[in-house]
Amino acid sequence: DSNKLWQGRFAGTSAKEVDVFNSSISFDHVLFEEDITGSIAHANMLGQQKIISEEDVHSIVNGLQGILKDLKSGELAFDPDAEDIHMFTESVLTERIGDAGKKLHTGRSRNDQVALDLRLYVKKKIIGIKEQLLQFEEVVISQAEKHLHTIMPGYTHLQIAQPVSFAHHILAYGQMILRDINRLEEVMDHTDVMPLGNGALAGTTYPFDRQYVADQLGFSEVSANSLDGVSDRDFVIDTTYALSMIMMHLSRLSEEIILWSSQEFRFVELNDAFATGSSIMPQKKNPDVAELVRGKTGRVYGNLQTLLTMMKGLPLAYNKDMQEDKEALFDSISTVTLALSAMIPMIDTMNVKKERMREAASKGFINATDCADYLTKKGLPFREAYGVIGGLVKYCIEKDLTLEDVSLEKYQSLNALFEEDIFEAIKLETCVGKRNIEGGPAPEAVAKQLRQLKRKLSRF
Ligand code: ARG
Repeated sequence: DSNKLWQGRFAGTSAKEVDVFNSSISFDHVLFEEDITGSIAHANMLGQQKIISEEDVHSIVNGLQGILKDLKSGELAFDPDAEDIHMFTESVLTERIGDAGKKLHTGRSRNDQVALDLRLYVKKKIIGIKEQLLQFEEVVISQAEKHLHTIMPGYTHLQIAQPVSFAHHILAYGQMILRDINRLEEVMDHTDVMPLGNGALAGTTYPFDRQYVADQLGFSEVSANSLDGVSDRDFVIDTTYALSMIMMHLSRLSEEIILWSSQEFRFVELNDAFATGSSIMPQKKNPDVAELVRGKTGRVYGNLQTLLTMMKGLPLAYNKDMQEDKEALFDSISTVTLALSAMIPMIDTMNVKKERMREAASKGFINATDCADYLTKKGLPFREAYGVIGGLVKYCIEKDLTLEDVSLEKYQSLNALFEEDIFEAIKLETCVGKRNIEGGPAPEAVAKQLRQLKRKLSRF
């Protein structure tokens, strides 16, 4: 292809293999809208600064709007032989409007152009994912509201530890997602910087009005250093990191859902629409969505690693290595978007089996801490009380009893401080209800947590 925009300096043409290797249009075509919007803002600025004529601006802007419309409708197809989306739109523009099209790239480089496009794209996608996270929070909140009094075992080391409520448990994910939303806001701040005017690396000699470009495109600041402006991909890595954290949270919840839907737990049953069967075992109902979310977390982490490694050896300013930022970023964005869109309705429609949770919570001496606390509150030092209850648990295991089964006489033979009210003290409802500390599982405390979470979310 001897029609390359940069052909002038070359006597020979590039090898076919090089064209294929170099080309990024197969993946960066998704930037077409940002590329065109950015070019329109640039052209308007060139006109305002009298660098090109108003007629040229007019035909460039009309031409670009036509290209955008035709790409959206499918009337215009991406040329797989174009080097990248930037070369593609510029060539089509010149084909369509003639000489005026050749003025668009005045004072601009693909280096600041691609940085701009990517920032516009990331900003758009962050807004979309934040929207999804807010929907996730709604679903978490609605499950929590239904289950303030649903007692379930809380675990450490996956061993039954102390009773909590399902509301409290699911709201732990509500807090994680809240942090994820805040993290995306921070990433948004880092992304909200306009690089046009940085040129290839050393700015431009034309009298650009960079702020005017920033204003048209909704950026709150312009980049402060041209070398950094064209080669900064921190915002891509920040985004991929924030997406990794989201996947990590979704993956932990997925792991719990996988456990909870097992025969051994039976804490939840997934709606048929969010489970799959086996081709051979007729009895099966598999939590594939949750498993895939857990599995896909690996590739999102991998993308973060790809980007950190890709950037670490790059001298200033732009290097072609940076073209590799796109597939990693795009893959993380689409993976998280898809994972959220499957998980949100899955959690929403998940049937929580209160009785099973209650039954599981009544095993494993889940109220042993409360039993020790009972003695402590009557004056016995905690460490001594701990010893008494340790002995009692051992006795119960030998006799196959729960703490509720033990007679008052037995309790009193272990320690004279035990009275009839011990049975009330070790009821699961008491164990949960008395943990009415800020951040605790008591229904009252969880109701407060819910109110605070909703208030924090209302800011977005
Ligand atoms: N396709 C390139 C990328 O994604 C655009 C910038 C290319 N600049 C250059 N001077 N080759 O990074």
